[in-house]
Amino acid sequence: MASTISILFFLASFLLAPSPLQSADPDPLQDFCVGLINATESVNGFPCKPASAVTANDFSSDVIAYEGNTNNPFGSNVTGANAMAFPGLNTLGVSMNRIDLAPGGLNPPHSHPRATELDIVIEGTVMIGFVTTGNVFYSKVLRKGELFVVPRGLVHFERNIGKGKALIFAAFNGQMPGTVSIAPTLFGAKPPIPDAVLSKAFQVGTGVVDEIKSKGHTASITVINKCPFQIWPSAAPNNGHAVLADGGFHLESGHSRLIEAPGNWNGRIWARTGSNFDANSWQPAYQTGDCGGRLACNGLIGTPPATLVEISLHADKNTPSYYDVSLVDGYNLPVSITTVCPAELAVANEDGEVVACKSTCLAFGADRFRCRNEYGSAGKCKPSVYSKLFKDACPWYFSYAFDAPSPLVSCGVTELFITFCPAKWSDGGDNQYEPV
Ligand SMILES: *[C@@H]1O[C@H](CO)[C@@H](O)[C@H](O)[C@H]1NC(C)=O
Ligand SMILES: *[C@@H]1O[C@H](CO)[C@@H](O)[C@H](O)[C@H]1NC(C)=O
Repeated sequence: MASTISILFFLASFLLAPSPLQSADPDPLQDFCVGLINATESVNGFPCKPASAVTANDFSSDVIAYEGNTNNPFGSNVTGANAMAFPGLNTLGVSMNRIDLAPGGLNPPHSHPRATELDIVIEGTVMIGFVTTGNVFYSKVLRKGELFVVPRGLVHFERNIGKGKALIFAAFNGQMPGTVSIAPTLFGAKPPIPDAVLSKAFQVGTGVVDEIKSKGHTASITVINKCPFQIWPSAAPNNGHAVLADGGFHLESGHSRLIEAPGNWNGRIWARTGSNFDANSWQPAYQTGDCGGRLACNGLIGTPPATLVEISLHADKNTPSYYDVSLVDGYNLPVSITTVCPAELAVANEDGEVVACKSTCLAFGADRFRCRNEYGSAGKCKPSVYSKLFKDACPWYFSYAFDAPSPLVSCGVTELFITFCPAKWSDGGDNQYEPV
């Protein structure tokens, strides 16, 4: 008897529970159900907006009408029109993505656990491929107007193999297809999957695992020009690191530029001044910090003298990131560095004052670096102004400048602001910041 009841119970629960064999979004029980996306999502989608409040606009959306920015390490950008972005799709079991690909761009391997994908190429030449559960790889090169179907849940990618940009629209038989991106899933999970697991799974050392993990993180470096004249900031990577922003660019007075850097970037940033830049000339074109007369230094370092910001980032928050200002190559502009970092990572000096992360460190030539040999001439050096500003600004930095070049600041840095001619000192008149 007891066993009959438990069998009945088992059958009943099987019939009542959402069946694992069901392969698409469930059929709607009404004409439409425009989603209230701020409400908590329930078993199958969002609650419905009252029909009296629904207008034609609820059935239309322009979210995938605009080109995504592909200026990222993958050269791709996916914009989704799912039930969240386009609430009119709620309960209707369909959605669409827009995939923009720069030349060579890749939408990296991923899968959609809840929908089959039907791709149509609108522009360009792309390779689309998927791998079955039996590890068989199917791929195809497609051109404008051609279709490719990716069965539900299988790992796939889209790659632009043409010379121009490519555009694909992907239709799904699900309102929220979901995306499992292979690399971030394994190497960017929070909290992280232990290195030992990944190291064993891929049969590589933990160093390789750390290296891959660090790629998922980026740091943003904002370069700000508060000098009353234009400058040409430059960035040169240390060996094995990426060239950022082509190695150099132009920045008008009062302007700033955001640079995305890999989370473990190592290198230096400085600014060139006094350009008579001429694209056709290979003569040194900048008065200070020149790199072979080019606008884009492309990894070349600058000619001294130039104030150098040295940066050593670690994506792993347990390993400190460092940045400092080096005057060993002389100086040309004052620079300040500020960063945003978690309070618990802030570094304090012996008086308990926070000197890292939240403090502004001003770099000027200390006496022993200023006016020496080829860098010095009475006209180019203003000792009293510099020393005073320097002492006012950052006394602790001063002593470091004289001492061993130990790291000035350490913390888990994900956002760094580098200001040339910090504001506090740039309205003092007298052309204090005339480039030297
Ligand atoms: C949902 O909430 C966000 C932020 O609270 C708000 O900006 C948005 O207008 C809301 N959307 C709807 C459809 O109520
Ligand atoms: C995709 O493009 C949008 C719109 O230009 C942009 O806001 C977003 O940051 C881009 N995403 C990536 C990953 O580059």
